[in-house]
Amino acid sequence: MAVMLLKPAKAAADAWLARFADAAPDLEVRVWPELGDEAEIDYAFIWDPPPGLLAKLPRLKGVFSLGAGADHLFRDPDLPRGLPLTRVVDPSMTARVTEHGLTLVLHLHRNMAAYGAAQRRGEWAPEPQPRAQDRPVGILGLGVLGGDLARRCADLGFPVAGWSRTAKHLDGIDCFHGAEGLVPFLARSQILVCLLPLTPETDRIMDAALFAGLPKGAMVVNLGRGKHLATEDLVAALESGHLAHAALDVFEPEPLPAESPLWAHPKVTITPHVAGVTDPDAVVAQVLENIRRIEAGEPVLHPVDRDLGY
Ligand code: NAP
Ligand code: GLV
Repeated sequence: MAVMLLKPAKAAADAWLARFADAAPDLEVRVWPELGDEAEIDYAFIWDPPPGLLAKLPRLKGVFSLGAGADHLFRDPDLPRGLPLTRVVDPSMTARVTEHGLTLVLHLHRNMAAYGAAQRRGEWAPEPQPRAQDRPVGILGLGVLGGDLARRCADLGFPVAGWSRTAKHLDGIDCFHGAEGLVPFLARSQILVCLLPLTPETDRIMDAALFAGLPKGAMVVNLGRGKHLATEDLVAALESGHLAHAALDVFEPEPLPAESPLWAHPKVTITPHVAGVTDPDAVVAQVLENIRRIEAGEPVLHPVDRDLGY
């Protein structure tokens, strides 16, 4: 009988415990911080492990990120080496992140913030209605989530480009990659969406230099991680008028502190990290399959490359 440590992010532990008990009654699930005998723990299905926690589990055979991103694992300098690391890849999460991405892209494209402000003033104030085909969208990150959002934006008629680390070919999407691809990619992107993983290479990638590469009046959406964004540079670019608006779902730290200038900024739309939350109903099966694979000596599903950081 395997023992798995569970440290959930948002969904209550009870929901996870019920699903694991139904699907794998033989798996003993211990909920952090109640570890019991640390020498008995085989697996960790975890969000944001406290530094050093995983290193003190001598029998650990695999670490499963409780989200699509794995950056929270690498915050632990003592993350054990040589173990399989996995992350969540789930079509229902992809669908929800894409819905949220489309919502924010359309919010910016149709200038919904201006209508909200006009309504609060009691003012009937029509805005121009630009065509989707005249509003190029650029997606930083063309992986599971960025690739899906790119296709769905293209379906709505937006000219869509994406930027990745390695070369990609996606039907109907203009694909750029690497440092040399970033400049032409930014220059054509009027709405820029970040769906990158957070790694040392992408930390604060959205800074003053990147914003300067966007056309005047461009808008940005951050669905990746708060640390992708240099907040002070964003505020300066909004105040200079170079950027028109930002729609942000992720922050550093979270929750966004009350004193953040973003809360009351008229050119900022905030959602509280809700694009796609891990759903126990959808994800328990892939955790159990990875336990089966590790026990059988097979390669895991949805591996995270420790050297790349995603
Ligand atoms: P993924 O499948 O691993 O895709 C990552 C993409 O980013 C790939 O296209 C990759 O390029 C590209 N990339 C990585 N490093 C790069 C670099 N240095 N330069 C250029 N491109 C780079 O990840 P995913 O499943 O799409 O998830 C992306 C992120 O979304 C997660 O890490 C997480 O932070 C965030 N997320 C947020 C929410 C939310 O609720 N807001 C929900 C889920 C996930 P290659 O294709 O060349 O490898
Ligand atoms: C959420 O942000 C995730 O990485 O799943």
